[in-house]
Amino acid sequence: SSPGTIYEAIGGAEAVRRLVEAFYPKVQAHPLLSPIFPEDITPVMEKQYMFLSQFFGGPPLYTEAYGHPMMRARHLPFPITPERAEAWLACMRQALEETVEDESLRMLMLERLSGPAYHFVNQP
Ligand code: HEM
Repeated sequence: SSPGTIYEAIGGAEAVRRLVEAFYPKVQAHPLLSPIFPEDITPVMEKQYMFLSQFFGGPPLYTEAYGHPMMRARHLPFPITPERAEAWLACMRQALEETVEDESLRMLMLERLSGPAYHFVNQP
């Protein structure tokens, strides 16, 4: 991956792995989010690891495995309300606080994810 990316700044593959591992237990514990996620979260974690790696400037693991991300389309089967987008971002904020030391990097990452999160809202 290229220097100067968020991926490199946070510490590469291991950092993305830690973030994803901190994030999904929060999703599974969240009353608004847990009902729409599968009980076996492992495949979702793996896909998110691959996606976030490339999203933050690392190797294009997700695209290599699954093709064009088309993330809004992939979320259409799941009812995503504005409240669920907020909840997803709140879990991510906590996971970032636990795994990324640099506060300005955390803010930048959350900001980068906020656009897509609200864009995936497909229910009032
Ligand atoms: C998959 C919920 C936002 C990335 C999923 C799944 C659900 C979900 C239910 C499918 C789990 C399954 O396979 O059964 C949500 C909710 C969000 C949200 C409620 C709130 C807005 C995001 C954001 C990103 C993201 C902001 C990244 C920018 C992914 C990825 C997958 C996924 C990479 C796996 C896609 C695949 O199956 O290949 N999400 N998501 N999600 N989500 Fe989200």
